[in-house]
Amino acid sequence: MSIKTVLKNFNRIQLALAPSPIHRLSRLTAMLGHNIYIMRDDLTGFALGGNKTRKLEFLIGDALKKKAQVLITSGASSFSRNAAAAGRAFGLDIHVFIVGEEAKQNRASMTFFKLMDAKLHFISEEKKETMPQEKMKLIKRIEESGQSVYELHHGGSDEVGTLSYINAFDEISDYSQNHSIRFDKIIHATGSTATQAGLVLGQCIDGHETMIIGMAIAREADLQKKNVQDLVARTAQKIGVPWDQSKVIVDDRFIGPGYPLPSKESEEAVKLFASLEGVLLDAIYTGKAAAGLIHYALNNMFAKDDNILFIHTGGNFGLFY
Ligand SMILES: Cc1ncc(COP(=O)(O)O)c(C=O)c1O
Repeated sequence: MSIKTVLKNFNRIQLALAPSPIHRLSRLTAMLGHNIYIMRDDLTGFALGGNKTRKLEFLIGDALKKKAQVLITSGASSFSRNAAAAGRAFGLDIHVFIVGEEAKQNRASMTFFKLMDAKLHFISEEKKETMPQEKMKLIKRIEESGQSVYELHHGGSDEVGTLSYINAFDEISDYSQNHSIRFDKIIHATGSTATQAGLVLGQCIDGHETMIIGMAIAREADLQKKNVQDLVARTAQKIGVPWDQSKVIVDDRFIGPGYPLPSKESEEAVKLFASLEGVLLDAIYTGKAAAGLIHYALNNMFAKDDNILFIHTGGNFGLFY
């Protein structure tokens, strides 16, 4: 069974400029003494780009298949921003629940939501446990008005969003074949989990031998690993493929002071990628994954001839935090 055959069964819209470019980082390679490549999912092209654009291709595809007219999600996050843009581009309204005060939100983020006509619902920190009930009330109101609602999970990380990174793994596999290169390690930031879950499932379907290492940005390794495995298991069941839980590898040593704070190492990684390669990371997601990559390289945790693929999952240089 191939990834392309598996994914043919799912409705998908086209948002991303795919396949994402993959290229060698020559100056970083020279400095670290390992072959470092980068997959430019920061350049997925639609609205603010990044890994969320991929997830939304399948999520909006599913919403349209189910005849939804309204999207509901939560978090003043890159996912919600891109969901607002993708929703509008396909004629869907979007409501976003946000914990915190409006006045304390990032101004660029608020401007973005406004441009997309997103309807924002703020819930105070003290009342954040009431969010599920508030969402249910809104869904009921919208449905009573005759419209159908599609709920997008936090970060787009559900069984549908995960399909997009199975597809990304297929792009990696195609690149490997076309350029006769095997990536021994794939490194990326892991948060709400669909990016890693999709890559792992892609690997299990494709049979390509590699080690996918998710650098945790918020949760300690055991919990993050369990969350990723849960999503892999649910998605594997949905699409009917076997998977191997040992393929889920998480490293939490680069979280630093926690989410959403930068660490000294992530700021150094951002500086290094910018000054050597002109590649802009952010210090909260991709910078932490890059800090892990640099640490592995400098501490002989890669084999001498390893080809390493770093997935740049977006983050807009941290301008929205
Ligand atoms: C820039 C960036 N990289 C990586 C991630 C992690 O991806 P996932 O949430 O699919 O684990 C996120 C999630 O918000 C992100 O914004």
